This record gives sequence, C-alpha cells and structure tokens, in this order.
Amino acid sequence: MPCACPSSSAKGQAQGIAHTTKPTRKNKDMNTKKVALVTGGSGGIGSELCRHLASADYQVIVNYNSNKEKAAATLKSLKGEGHVITKASVTNSTDLKEMAEYVERVYGRLDVLVNNSGMTKPIPHDDLDGLEDDWIDRIMQVNFRGAFACIRAFKPLLLKGENSIIVNISSIAARTGVGSNVAYCASKAAMDSMTRSLGRALAPQIRVVSLSPGWVMGEYAKKSPASYIQEQKDKTPLARIAAASDVGKALIGIIEHFTFSTGCIFPVDGGRPLT
Ligand SMILES: NC(=O)c1ccc[n+]([C@@H]2O[C@H](COP(=O)([O-])OP(=O)(O)OC[C@H]3O[C@@H](n4cnc5c(N)ncnc54)[C@H](OP(=O)(O)O)[C@@H]3O)[C@@H](O)[C@H]2O)c1
Repeated sequence: MPCACPSSSAKGQAQGIAHTTKPTRKNKDMNTKKVALVTGGSGGIGSELCRHLASADYQVIVNYNSNKEKAAATLKSLKGEGHVITKASVTNSTDLKEMAEYVERVYGRLDVLVNNSGMTKPIPHDDLDGLEDDWIDRIMQVNFRGAFACIRAFKPLLLKGENSIIVNISSIAARTGVGSNVAYCASKAAMDSMTRSLGRALAPQIRVVSLSPGWVMGEYAKKSPASYIQEQKDKTPLARIAAASDVGKALIGIIEHFTFSTGCIFPVDGGRPLT
C-alpha cells in the first residue's frame, strides 16, 4: 500500500508532514490545479524535477521507493500547495495500481507523468561475467518495465485530461552505448523505443516523449576524480557538465512549449555525442 504524506503547505494542514494512508480531499485547488507525478522524486534529478514542476504551479506527487527522508526533504522544498509524497515501487504493479487509485481519489486527475526512477551499477562493458543475469533483470525491471507499468497504471487518469503528457527520463547512453554498464544502456534504448511506440499508440490524447540527459552533476559525479570531470567537460561542446536544473528547465519547456511533439527524444547533453 503506498503511503501518502500531504505537503505541510496544503491548506488546512498543520505544519510538518502528516502521514496518512487514507487521504481525503485537502483543498479546493486539488481538483482544478494541474497535477504531476514524478517517480523517484527522492533522487538527485527527480527532486529537482519536482521543484521545477511546483514552481510552474503544478501540484506534485513525489514518489519514492526506499528513501522516505529524501522524499520528505523534496516535499519540504516545494513551492506552493497540494503536494504529497507516495511510496511505491515501480516494479510492483499492485503498488502502482493503488497509487493510481490514490491520485484519482485525492486529485481526480493526472496531467503529467514523469518516469524518472532508475538504477544501475558500474560494470566495465568488457566484463561480461560481471554483468550477472540478476543485475540485467533488476536494471530492466526498474528502468524499462517500471516505466511501462507506470504508464499502464496511470493511462486511465491521463486520458481524462486534455493535454496530458508522459516524460520518460532516458539517457544519452541509449544513443551512444556508453554508460555505467551494457544493461543500463540497453534499458534506456528500450525506454526510447517505448517512447516511439506509445507516442503513436496513445496519440492524440496523450503525448509521450523521452528527455535524454548526458552526465548530470550529482552525488555520484561529485565523487569522480577531478581529472575525469575535466575530461568530460573538454569533450562536451558546451564545455560543462549538466546540472539537474538543466533537466528541470527542459522538462518544463517540453510540457509547456513543445506542445506539438510526441514520440521523440529530447537531448540535454551539451552536444556530447558530437565529439
Ligand atoms: N545522474 C546522471 O548522470 C543521469 C544521466 C542520464 C540519465 N539519468 C537518469 O535520471 C534518472 C534519475 O537519476 P539520478 O541520478 O537522480 O539517480 P538517483 O539519485 O540514484 O535516484 C534514483 C531514484 O530512483 C528511485 N528508484 C529506484 N528504484 C525504484 C523503484 N523500484 N521504484 C521506485 N523508485 C525507484 C530512487 O528511489 P529511492 O531512493 O526512494 O529508493 C531514487 O529516487 C534515472 O532514470 C537515470 O537513469 C541520470
């Protein structure tokens, strides 16, 4: 059962995060203001996507899997009202169905679904024995199957809206085959393929796009040697590593301004594949 913790800034709510598994309608705006759900809103990029959506006047549903503290910190950082955190694993379709029922019950709508949850493990591409079957399955289950399962669970709600959109957070690795391991690259290529298939299948009611970042300066990147980071900057035409805010700005641009685009892949990579 996903938990739902309403925003401390929701009208009529006490300060602090009130935990409830039986949410009721919180304020009159909940059914009129647009609603966005970000899977993995507890993560580095996901939390920034949530902040950009809240600043763009969306009510944000911050999904998390294991890290409630980070999800709560994301929630606390959001501007505006009507935001919640929800716990659900994208690998568990029962969780996802319950999360969709919760969103329907409380908000009655979903305008934006951002499939951001992801996982990986660094394994050199020539270490074929190192990429064990179990890791391949886990990576594909979260990064590809999880995104598909979310779309399946939320399709009925998205169909209720007039300008609904699904944004799949992919990766430059899908295109270049360079990334943390072979299965990770393949999982993002599968995601991009799904974007094309569903861009066609769910049109005209729901747009489906991939947002495809290059390497983003986050917790993992910050642990990399300075020489490696410099090398990556040198190989990037725009001469820097992406910040999570670059991905957030692109997300809002895609949702609000690229309104005649579907089934396509938006790169946010500073031109890295050109070199
Ligand atoms: N960082 C980069 O350089 C980069 C570049 C290109 C693309 N991307 C993509 O951007 C997305 C976010 O990456 P990030 O760097 O922000 O990673 P991150 O900080 O490790 O965050 C990953 C997020 O995924 C969630 N997650 C993992 N397994 C899940 C599951 N079974 N169900 C629901 N949520 C689950 C985590 O939730 P909990 O922590 O709550 O478990 C966490 O919020 C990923 O899809 C990644 O592939 C990242």
